[in-house]
Amino acid sequence: MKRIYCRYAAIVLAAVMMILAVVPAYAADSTKQKLVLGTSADFAPYEFHKTIDGKDQIVGFDIEIAKEIAKDLDRELVIEDIGFDALLPALQSGRVDMVISGMTPTDERKRSIDFSDNYYQSRQVIVVKAENKSKFPTMDSLRGAKIGVQKGSIQEEIGMGIPDAQLTSLDKISDIILQLRTNRVEAAIMEDTVAAGYLDSEVVLAPAVPDVPEVQAAIGIQKGNTELLNSINGTLDRLKANNDIERMVEEASALAADRPQAKSPNIIEVFWEYRNYYITGVGYTLLLSALGVLFGFIIGLFICFIRMSGIRVLQWIGTTYVEILRGTPMLVQLMIVHYGFSLTFGINFSPLQSGIITLSINSSAYLAELFRAGIQGVDRGQMEAARSLGMKRGKAMRFIILPQALKAVLPAIGNEFITIIKESSIISFIGMMDLMYQASVVKNITFQGMSPFIIAAALYFVMTFGLSKLLGLWERKLRASDNR
Ligand code: ARG
Repeated sequence: MKRIYCRYAAIVLAAVMMILAVVPAYAADSTKQKLVLGTSADFAPYEFHKTIDGKDQIVGFDIEIAKEIAKDLDRELVIEDIGFDALLPALQSGRVDMVISGMTPTDERKRSIDFSDNYYQSRQVIVVKAENKSKFPTMDSLRGAKIGVQKGSIQEEIGMGIPDAQLTSLDKISDIILQLRTNRVEAAIMEDTVAAGYLDSEVVLAPAVPDVPEVQAAIGIQKGNTELLNSINGTLDRLKANNDIERMVEEASALAADRPQAKSPNIIEVFWEYRNYYITGVGYTLLLSALGVLFGFIIGLFICFIRMSGIRVLQWIGTTYVEILRGTPMLVQLMIVHYGFSLTFGINFSPLQSGIITLSINSSAYLAELFRAGIQGVDRGQMEAARSLGMKRGKAMRFIILPQALKAVLPAIGNEFITIIKESSIISFIGMMDLMYQASVVKNITFQGMSPFIIAAALYFVMTFGLSKLLGLWERKLRASDNR
């Protein structure tokens, strides 16, 4: 038995090393030092997604400013698109070097990060549906109203200050507008430059104006990084002196306004036009799930042996591992792997690495239990027979018990794979570009709430259904060999 788990320990180690070595290959290619920008690309014209030459790109005047900063530093700009409320932790943990995201330098934020000089000023406004315009003449009239704001923004704080208001805090501005259009909120607080992109005959500005309408935007950096701060301020001075920022705002606004949106496309058109997004998404989802199950399988087998080792401490460790991982939500595990490790230990996994690690350890707990059930389900007599033929325990386990056990639990392993394909959608939370993430991107570009997700659902279904059919076939084959 002992020899077996030495071998499995080696396999697990090799697997972990593979994740760490192979996976980040996509991140590192150039020799120039990187400058990682953290931004929440839902904020046109500051930063937003745009299809250019059939490819999804993050554009906007914040991005143009970032490019200038990178140029002055002679570093290669890398953009990380994360939720607005995750930007501060990302910066503090060093996952990103700077945050440019229309972020207002508030006193509260200044406690945890440093800010550059201001580079842009906008005004806060209240956005409502045209028919409600007269309902909200003043801020007082917003009492008790249903209000949409962006999570983690200063607008959320304003909303919290409105007596009895029912706040809906969402990740993305486009979601807030969608809530407004579908009457789930009556008013939304945002900034005029951003609101401008959504105003039409249905969505308008209310007469009410927040008490402090002016808001500034500045660039966030880690506390005490004076070198970067000075360089950034230098770049800003240069841009301001040439009126470059105004020009960038104008260009970005024009780019944002230019959406080919004559009629709303039907679901087939959405799919065809954005097929590249979906194809990329399916690719990542399959990659995540396949590696998740593969490593989950290996780790699960290892944990299973630990639990059945007959050695008290090891058994206890194995049981604790399984119980904790099965007893906590995968989303929480993901946050711990992705943010916890980086903030506490300075280990920065890429979204793909965090995704694979989380899926692997999560599924390993379920698989370990499956294996145990499978092994225990094999008739005791099998081991006895193998031993009496002179086989060592390890050998008997490998050649007699395990094959039978695995065969018995094969359908359940297949189910686990199917579960992982679906659950992997959670990884989109940390910016992994899987199918779920791509569906949200398409939703943000098309302003359609239904078809992008129906398409994603269909694709998930094709994957899971296809897989379950395949597994069914394989099972039947195995059963046929039983009857021989
Ligand atoms: N200026 C506001 C703030 O700092 C909102 C910024 C939102 N930015 C974004 N990229 N969504 O709280």
